[in-house]
Amino acid sequence: MIPDLRRPLIVGNWKMNNTVAESIKLVTALKHLLVDSPHIDVAVAPPFTALYSVSVALSDTNMSLAAQNMFWEEDGAFTGEISGAFLKDVGCEMVLVGHSERRNLFGETDKMVNQKLQAALKSDLIPIVCVGENLAQREKDSTLDVIEAQMRVAFSDVAMHDFEKMVLAYEPVWAIGTGKNATPQQAGEVHHFMRTWLMKHYDAPTANRIRILYGGSVKPENAPALMKETHVDGLLVGGASLDSDSFAKIVKFEERMS
Ligand code: PGA
Repeated sequence: MIPDLRRPLIVGNWKMNNTVAESIKLVTALKHLLVDSPHIDVAVAPPFTALYSVSVALSDTNMSLAAQNMFWEEDGAFTGEISGAFLKDVGCEMVLVGHSERRNLFGETDKMVNQKLQAALKSDLIPIVCVGENLAQREKDSTLDVIEAQMRVAFSDVAMHDFEKMVLAYEPVWAIGTGKNATPQQAGEVHHFMRTWLMKHYDAPTANRIRILYGGSVKPENAPALMKETHVDGLLVGGASLDSDSFAKIVKFEERMS
């Protein structure tokens, strides 16, 4: 992490958890726990049904609201889908795109990821674009090839001035919800590869400004070591973001950095 260049960003992905009442309870607890963390960017991604209520609850804080998914069309006959404009309407600033659960459980392809991130940018939302290899790919030693292929398709036709607005997330699929996080070295290697890819396809100043988050079994205990890696600029937290104390401890990782 290079603090002057890239402010740390910690995002809580609540997945399909929390009713409106539970969401408000969680965010209210977080507000109290995080009053003294103004130099870290924090965002939460509740389910669609709780976005508006959480947005109202966050209105007197610096925390940002993120959605977990969106569709690329602006409006029309797309039963069950949510557009970027709808997300803006309820106060979202960010949106997760290409989370591995969307890819693996709902058949999202790299091409769809590209369409979604283009639509997010058009709606003035910051896309948090997730990439990551599965266990078989890691064991075959093809991690970097997989990441390269995902990035190449996902970021095709994204102009430099748009690219600057994005956040990237490396989430090894084998580490998500398994309790098995990537070691800081494993995360550091892939993040470095991603940064180098950005330098090649855009330029060094742009690449150095983009935040690359790590996600996959992040906990208060492993957050400080992960954040010590030069190219790890933040964390995308699933399970541990559902508990206000654990999430606040992750946000305050600096207090436990040796
Ligand atoms: P996890 O999920 O922290 O529960 O492993 C991370 C994610 O899916 O973003």
